Amino acid sequence: MKILGIETSCDETAAAVIENGTKILSNVVASSLELHAKTGGIIPEVAAREQLKSIIPVIETSLKNAKLSTKDVDAIAVTNGPGLIGSLFIGVETAKTLAYSWSKPIVPTNHLFGHIYANWLENPNPPAFPTLALLVSGGHTELVLLHSHDKFEWLGGTRDDAAGECFDKTARLLGLPYPGGPQIQKAAEKAENIDNSLPRPMSDSKDFDFSFSGLKSDVARRVADKTLSQQEVCNLAASIQAAVVDSLLIKTKKAVEKYKVKEVLLAGGVAANKHLQEEAKKRLQVKVYSAPPRLCTDNGAMIGAAAFFQYKPVPWQEIKADSGLFF
Ligand code: KG4
Ligand code: ZN
Repeated sequence: MKILGIETSCDETAAAVIENGTKILSNVVASSLELHAKTGGIIPEVAAREQLKSIIPVIETSLKNAKLSTKDVDAIAVTNGPGLIGSLFIGVETAKTLAYSWSKPIVPTNHLFGHIYANWLENPNPPAFPTLALLVSGGHTELVLLHSHDKFEWLGGTRDDAAGECFDKTARLLGLPYPGGPQIQKAAEKAENIDNSLPRPMSDSKDFDFSFSGLKSDVARRVADKTLSQQEVCNLAASIQAAVVDSLLIKTKKAVEKYKVKEVLLAGGVAANKHLQEEAKKRLQVKVYSAPPRLCTDNGAMIGAAAFFQYKPVPWQEIKADSGLFF
């Protein structure tokens, strides 16, 4: 089955064709990142306006790259939430129109499930249930126990900022451009020492929740009214990265032990972080999956994969964008 996956929940406009949930026939991502780098973050109206311009060319390119015509597509999957409502509308309304005019089934797809299913793409040894997902992105930090394709159990999540948001906000405090996560990773590689006194909030709590706003405030206090040298920026970047990764892995390890899972999936943009991947492998002592970086950040391929494994088409009239969609 060949599914056209469409993703427009945040600043990317993406479309991909995926065969049987695992094989990438094409994967096109247009990003308005440069515009957002100028403003230091995403302005929703700017993102939606860019998506409106690029959605049709991106879909056309995804079909062309897959060497397919519309008649070869078996279904259309589209992210219907969570995300920025104006951005979601662009994808959902386009997908509805195509489903109607091409007479294809349409599958509303949860963006968070998409991130999780990125681990099934081009993976000769895909995850096996039960498995634990640590979903870390710009908007989410969630621990989810996956019993089967039909049964996901949410264990806990952030009480305030998401891990990616923490990277983005602290990077900005250090004078690094948006998006902050990759910049923090790059700067951290040049660090000469790490300050382990940065807070790891909620590390001792018995639940599976996280908190990152205290780390951001702590960094803000440390840099206030100071001009940091390049070396100080790199050292602080590594200290921030260490604090975020510690916070994430302390709770993930607790969940691995409690639920006795034999594998963990890293998912979402922050899963591209090398330090997180390396430390997860060292500390969790179970098999750790992470997709290549281009499949960790937002893309249409993960939407095509999720729609295949959770195939629930609806009449095109019934699909609705839902910015607050969750597990
Ligand atoms: O999944 P994603 O593309 O969009 C959302 O659904 O939010 O994630 C974007 C987030 C941003 O906060 C970005 O800074 C972070 O993922 N990110 C990283 C890395 N690459 C992207 N964070 C840490 N290390 C990275 N290498
Ligand atoms: Zn995402």
